[in-house]
Amino acid sequence: MTTHKIALYPGDGIGQEVVDATVAVLDALQEKAGGFALETTRFPWGVDYYDDHGEIVADDYLDQLRGFDAILLGAVGYPARLPDHITLSPLVRIRQAYDLYACLRPAKLYRGVTSPLRASDSESNPIDMLVLRENSEGEYLPLGGRYKVGRQEEVAVQTAVHSRIGVERILRFGFDLARERRKHLTMVTKSNALRYGFVLWDEVLDVVRGDYPDVTTDKIHADAVAMDFVRRPEYFDVVVGSNLFGDLLTDLSGVITGGLGLAPSANIDPTREYPSVFEPVHGSAPDIHRQGVANPIACLLSAVMMLEWLGEKGPGATLQKAIEVTLADGCHTPDLGGSLKTVEVVSSVIERL
Ligand SMILES: NC(=O)c1ccc[n+]([C@@H]2O[C@H](COP(=O)([O-])OP(=O)(O)OC[C@H]3O[C@@H](n4cnc5c(N)ncnc54)[C@H](O)[C@@H]3O)[C@@H](O)[C@H]2O)c1
Repeated sequence: MTTHKIALYPGDGIGQEVVDATVAVLDALQEKAGGFALETTRFPWGVDYYDDHGEIVADDYLDQLRGFDAILLGAVGYPARLPDHITLSPLVRIRQAYDLYACLRPAKLYRGVTSPLRASDSESNPIDMLVLRENSEGEYLPLGGRYKVGRQEEVAVQTAVHSRIGVERILRFGFDLARERRKHLTMVTKSNALRYGFVLWDEVLDVVRGDYPDVTTDKIHADAVAMDFVRRPEYFDVVVGSNLFGDLLTDLSGVITGGLGLAPSANIDPTREYPSVFEPVHGSAPDIHRQGVANPIACLLSAVMMLEWLGEKGPGATLQKAIEVTLADGCHTPDLGGSLKTVEVVSSVIERL
């Protein structure tokens, strides 16, 4: 029996609720599937921890997390209690310190879920794409400054960094993923206006695609991708974008496939030197915190990605199937138009395992 060491970082708001829900399902999965075990350790970091300790995470949190096989994160942030730049910084630091450069955000329209796009449905016109976001550099590096702060003539400078190595490795990761899917890769560019960084992206694509003759490719400007996610979402298979474009476009890919309550993600270190982080795309949703109605599916689908990454493909497939049947059977929380509570969806998934 293989035992995997999992760090639970539930965070704030509904992050805690969806992680509790996911742990309950994973416990049941271990019993039913057998052959593997998850040894979980829960870390209480977040706004409550801040009230007691004056800091959002322990000083050595990166060292504490380092030895785990994977990290399952709920969501961080609670703007009414602390500014976001404080609560979100540990998560951003994990991604950068562990070089989790590949952020996978699949968006699939499941049976039983209604897309806000009239032309899309899971049978005749399905949406099934995987957006791969560059997660380690680009527009989100803390490089820049403010000058003459507070004065009329104040200036703020924020610099994006796109390295040849960074662009090449995320594109290669995308091509490898495309080979396991429908063998098409779209690169998001904006080289018509951002003539240094995205011209580099274009040039690297031209070099790398030569090594993947079995994968068809195109590059589309970010604004046109946004339009096409609405106009012809079924066209897309693997979509590779920079940190900012990937971030923006995955809110859109999430919402056209049923909303943030269904959107999972994985922040991966492909070298496996550091633990990868699996988390729903959504935030801590203070507006529904403590109401018991948070949709746990995004976190459950993130757990499926975690199981696959850990090599537990069989149990991962079992859980994926149980989630799909749960959705198809109409067991939905209010965000999907249903009336079930979080715990009722958890029971529905466990029944179907
Ligand atoms: N990775 C993260 O931890 C992460 C991601 C995004 C936002 N945040 C933080 O979360 C806090 C709230 O941000 P926000 O309100 O802009 O975004 P949010 O994702 O928390 O919520 C947006 C809307 O979607 C709904 N929603 C989100 N997840 C849901 C779920 N599982 N079930 C049902 N409904 C769901 C919410 O009720 C809300 O109406 C902020 O502090 C923000 O910075 C954290």
